[in-house]
Amino acid sequence: MSSPLIAPSLLSADFAHLADEVREVEKAGADWLHLDIMDGHFVPNITIGPILVQALRPLTRLPLDCHLMVSEPGKWIEPFAKAGADFITVHAEAARNLPALFTRIRKLGCKVGVSINPGTPPATIWRILPKVDLVLVMSVHPGFGGQKFIESSLKKIQQLAALRASAKLNFLIEVDGGVNASNIGSLKRAGVDVFVAGNAVFGEKNRAKAMKQLRKELTQRKAR
Ligand code: DX5
Ligand code: ZN
Repeated sequence: MSSPLIAPSLLSADFAHLADEVREVEKAGADWLHLDIMDGHFVPNITIGPILVQALRPLTRLPLDCHLMVSEPGKWIEPFAKAGADFITVHAEAARNLPALFTRIRKLGCKVGVSINPGTPPATIWRILPKVDLVLVMSVHPGFGGQKFIESSLKKIQQLAALRASAKLNFLIEVDGGVNASNIGSLKRAGVDVFVAGNAVFGEKNRAKAMKQLRKELTQRKAR
């Protein structure tokens, strides 16, 4: 299995100083930058548009992990791909024809992700798993940073990891919401490859220290 990746979510950053925030987490060893795209319709919040992704692109070498929490993902794939997204993740709940969206994402040169909300069982996406690079498991109800991790997400991750092994697939499993130094170790053991961390990184004054703490928990071996 690949080494675990940490993707700080810009949602909890200081939006008045985004360039500094991005540079700070890159320097602190972030692997990806997670960008939460919200349309005020699929979720009760509005955040980042293509214009901001385009402005961030030249500031960092980190892959831009664009998580589209929008009701009409089909409308937004192209603008975000052109703005510089590396990964484009769409919600299973928002799309009528996921395979068609995946084809478009790939044609635009991006990696394909699919996300499921806390209330959506993994079985909903079984069929399309061979077509994706990444499965993002929402471990809070999407819309806001700083929420508490929903424990039942762990079981969903274990189910996905078991299916991935038995079907010999190799999509990455990403967990998003309420990830912190106390639960990151058990999430890794459940099969997670990519850890989104908003509040756990940008909520701390010393981001480098926060990143180091998460990394330490990921590298520690625990017999549990
Ligand atoms: C929530 C977003 C998350 C959020 C995670 O809708 O998808 O990426 O920023 O933030 P924390 O880590 O604070 O739960
Ligand atoms: Zn997210």
